[in-house]
Amino acid sequence: MGIIGVWYSAPLMTREIKTYFIRTYGCQMNELDTDIMAGQLQKRNLIPAADEDSADLLIFNTCSIRDLAERKVMGKLGRMGRGAKKNALIGVTGCMAMAKRDSLFRKFPHLDFVVGTNNITDLGSVLDEALYTNRQVLRTEEKFEENIDYLAAKRESNLKAHVSIIRGCDKFCTYCVVPYTRGQEVSRPPESIIEECKKLIDQGYKEITLLGQNVNSYGKDRPEWGCLFHDLLRKLDAIPQMGRIRFMTSHPIDITRELMEAIRDLPSLCEFVHFPIQAGSSRILKKMHRIYTKEQYLEKVALLREIVPNVSLGTDIIVGFPTETEEEFQETYDIMKALRFSVAFIYAYSPRKGTPAMRWKDDIPEEVKQDRLQRLMDLQTQIGNEERNSLLGKTFEVLVECYNKDGAMLKGRTRCWKKVIFQGDESLIGTFQKVNIHSFGHQTLIGSIETNNKLLQL
Ligand code: SAH
Ligand code: SF4
Ligand code: F3S
Repeated sequence: MGIIGVWYSAPLMTREIKTYFIRTYGCQMNELDTDIMAGQLQKRNLIPAADEDSADLLIFNTCSIRDLAERKVMGKLGRMGRGAKKNALIGVTGCMAMAKRDSLFRKFPHLDFVVGTNNITDLGSVLDEALYTNRQVLRTEEKFEENIDYLAAKRESNLKAHVSIIRGCDKFCTYCVVPYTRGQEVSRPPESIIEECKKLIDQGYKEITLLGQNVNSYGKDRPEWGCLFHDLLRKLDAIPQMGRIRFMTSHPIDITRELMEAIRDLPSLCEFVHFPIQAGSSRILKKMHRIYTKEQYLEKVALLREIVPNVSLGTDIIVGFPTETEEEFQETYDIMKALRFSVAFIYAYSPRKGTPAMRWKDDIPEEVKQDRLQRLMDLQTQIGNEERNSLLGKTFEVLVECYNKDGAMLKGRTRCWKKVIFQGDESLIGTFQKVNIHSFGHQTLIGSIETNNKLLQL
């Protein structure tokens, strides 16, 4: 205790921080963590800097999912060492802070702190310690304690909000670093989620995306709450004035009939499900520890499409997993062709240190991986264009978000997550409009607001 007294009373502080800049890599969970950290910093009266160069405090909120993601940050950190603003405080947070906690300070002696994914609420005390002691501070605990001040999050958008409902992942797919960088699953109490959602709706938010590595596991770690994912969805849908609810991401094994029925029954719940298959061959799925076979996956999709006929599906796929043969890749190709996902994120396998798949040789040559990747991307482009073509003449409810890049058209998304642009007045931003589709461009539907259109009331 005595030491803390000294830190605060003696004028040891050599650096003063007034402005901050957070550079975010990776997925939506990292983006939300950035918003939560920004909220904490603003509570300390720090103000956002316009760019990295002018910030007194620079945070890299990093991702470890593939080698490329890490290399980007490593390059950046190296360059920062040479050119950073004199006296700027520099820290690494996020998944790389966990995956590389043993080597970051050694590689980058100019780093001031490393804060892991389970310690983002400690940011304030870490800053104090770094400033007052001038020593490097490392805070990377394995287990997440439910103590985040979610309500302090500072979001960029005032229409769409991400809301965390569960952190961590217990699935341990053999290729994936996330269970090691985010720790085990910890659900957030339903009352806390409901409180945040109510507050967001009062502030005028129109769309809430519930976030977790596997949202369908929600509540399983806390059976005493009696609130599984579909129960939570029902509670959230019941909040007055709730606009749209989305969720991501889901593991196919936990997509239950109750969840499918919730999508069918709850007016606010959008008809879009991210349903990551990863591979089309049951042998590869087993090696990936995805705990479902190709047949079980296909049955689930069939059931979902039966219960929610207008559902759109998204997926993630990895090509070139160790030992994947051309025939096995072809199974993935055939499934994509048959199921016609609306959205597909396709990746080449990237070995990650500390994962079980590291024990297998990364035996698929890079050119083969790239060739498989390209074939799937070409197929997806074709499917996407055919799908967009089939939507011509149809009308969709669109949440109007902003002007598009060139400022000429308004932009928004349908319930099924399709991007739509159309002519319209600024006053429409933040409203739901019916838009009739007349043409399309790359990844984008083009339409016009229906005449005699009344603002849809929620
Ligand atoms: N929790 C999510 C996935 C998060 S990671 C889920 O299970 O759907 C996002 C995607 O990155 C994964 O779905 C997978 O397709 C891809 N991915 C993860 N580890 C990878 C690796 N080692 N190499 C290539 N792609 C990987
Ligand atoms: Fe990774 Fe699998 Fe967990 Fe998704 S479910 S985060 S792919 S271990
Ligand atoms: Fe990357 Fe971590 Fe998300 S590894 S994808 S930032 S959970």
